[in-house]
Order: sequence, then structure tokens, then C-alpha cells
Amino acid sequence: MITTTTERLTVHTTSVRPVADDVLELTFTHAQGHELPPWEPGAHIELELPSGLSRQYSLCGVPTNRTSYTVAVLREEGGRGGSRELHEIACVGAEFGINLPKNHFPLVPADSYLFIGGGIGITPLIPMIGEARRRGAQWRLVYGGRTATSMAYRDTLESLSPQVETWIEADRGYPDLPSILAAAPTGTAVYTCGPTAMIDAVTAEFRKHPHLGGLHFERFTASGPVDTGGDSFEVELRRTGVTFTVPEGTTILEEVHKVLPNHPSSCEEGYCGECETRVLDGEPDHRDDYLTEQEQEQGDMMMICVSRCKGSCLVLDL
Ligand code: FES
Repeated sequence: MITTTTERLTVHTTSVRPVADDVLELTFTHAQGHELPPWEPGAHIELELPSGLSRQYSLCGVPTNRTSYTVAVLREEGGRGGSRELHEIACVGAEFGINLPKNHFPLVPADSYLFIGGGIGITPLIPMIGEARRRGAQWRLVYGGRTATSMAYRDTLESLSPQVETWIEADRGYPDLPSILAAAPTGTAVYTCGPTAMIDAVTAEFRKHPHLGGLHFERFTASGPVDTGGDSFEVELRRTGVTFTVPEGTTILEEVHKVLPNHPSSCEEGYCGECETRVLDGEPDHRDDYLTEQEQEQGDMMMICVSRCKGSCLVLDL
């Protein structure tokens, strides 16, 4: 059945093709042939799978193309099952419900960009590179992968420009982050996406290069298991007028969903940004991988799927 709401629509798969080892590229059009809602580099869609799982995938096509959305999906044997299911059912003609594009990873204005992609983390960086070129900005891409055949779009990117440098782990090891970041011009905006270890390494190295502009990253996985340990605490939902206790072993999000079942969430592991909530009072105990250290210190926003409370009470803007 075709459904279209302001938040969701049904799309039709028009192409499925392998673009690297265990990576399928899927292209979707509107199921009724309409123009698709606009998106900007860094945006993702959330795909609803027949099993009920929902998974987010970065859009890696051309934003000005309003007739199709393109994503590339790595089959992760050790994952939670979404990518395996999608690989098994993907075929031309398959229909999926999606949530409209959202962007938690926007491309800020800058004169210079350094993009550092690892594995399937290359996908959101591809339209960003297109946008950086369109803006006439200086840019460089460092793209790392285990083997040449594991790296989606490698040939296309390498043929794009000498500013694209690939680091095939089997040949060269990991990218030389100290020299790569040191060589970037003053004020360069650094964008990175890929495995947790790579993002952690870029984040640690970035702190040693104060001449750079901001660091922007997007994770596909959490850096560790969700930790629901600690004392129980009270949460007041100020606008809803409800107060409840969050005991050890449960999350704020679980309790919020009892009252507000439609409150957005996706990964429920603290890395996607969907459940971000404004804090009106109290001190969050940040346990997420989404907010930057600076944002965590500010304390006015929190990821309620994993983060808890340092004191006895939190007041949330819900
Ligand atoms: S649901 Fe993904 S960060 Fe909370």
C-alpha cells in the first residue's frame, strides 16, 4: 500500500548493484512517481524493513536530483541484523517506507575542507565533496579501507581529482593522521565518518592541531555497549506535566516512550542523534557518542537513549 505523510513516504527500488565487497548500492524513486523531498549533503533517510527494524543510511547521490535517493549499504555480519536483512531482500521493484531526509551532519561554510572517510563512512562525504567543489572551496579527501575491493566508489573518487588520496590498509596501513591534519590550511573544517576507532583517532589527533576549524563527525556504531548502571533518578517532562523515576537498568527513553510513544529514536545506542532532547534543569550524565565534548559540557542537550543524571532530578523540555 502506498502511504505518504509529511514525515514518511513509500519508495520504489529502481536499481540494486554491488559497489564493493559486501556493499550494495540501492536507488529509490517515489512510489507514485512524484518528486522527492529535498535534502542536503550529510543527510540520511531511515528505511523501514519488513521485520520491523528501521535503519538509517546516508544519502550518497546528487542533491539536485529530485527524482531519486541513493544509499550504499554494507552487509555487517556482526551487526544487529538490519543490513543482512536488507541485502537479502533488496531487488528492483521492492518497496520500502522511509522517513524523510534528516541532517545531523551538515556541511558548514568554510574556505577549506578535509574529509576523512573510512570504509562505508565514505557515503555522506561524497555529496559533501560535490558541494565543496560547487562552492569553489579548497578540499582534500583521505579515504581509508581494508582492501581496494572493500572501498565503495574508490575508482570514481580517485578519478575525480588528485585531492583524493586512498589509504588501502593492506598496502599502506592506516592514514598518517598527524601529517594529514598538520598539512591542512588554517581554519579547515574537518569532516570524518567511518569506524569508531577511526573517528576516535581523528578526534584525538584533531586536539593537537589548534590551527584547524571545527571537527564534524558521524558514527554508524556506538563506541561500546549501553551502560544503564548507576543510581535511580527522577525525570520531569515539563511540557507534558509528568514526572517518573528512571531506575538502574532502564533508560530515560524507555520511560519517555511510555508517556510519549512517538518521541523520535533510532539507534538507541547514543550515536545517531534522533532522540536529542533539551535539558531545562539538572546535570546530565552524558554517555553518548553523538554530542561533542563542548556540547556535553554545555549540558543543555542530551541523548536520552543512553545518558543519565548526575544528580537526583532532570527536567526535560518534553
Ligand atoms: S536514539 Fe540514537 S542517539 Fe538516541
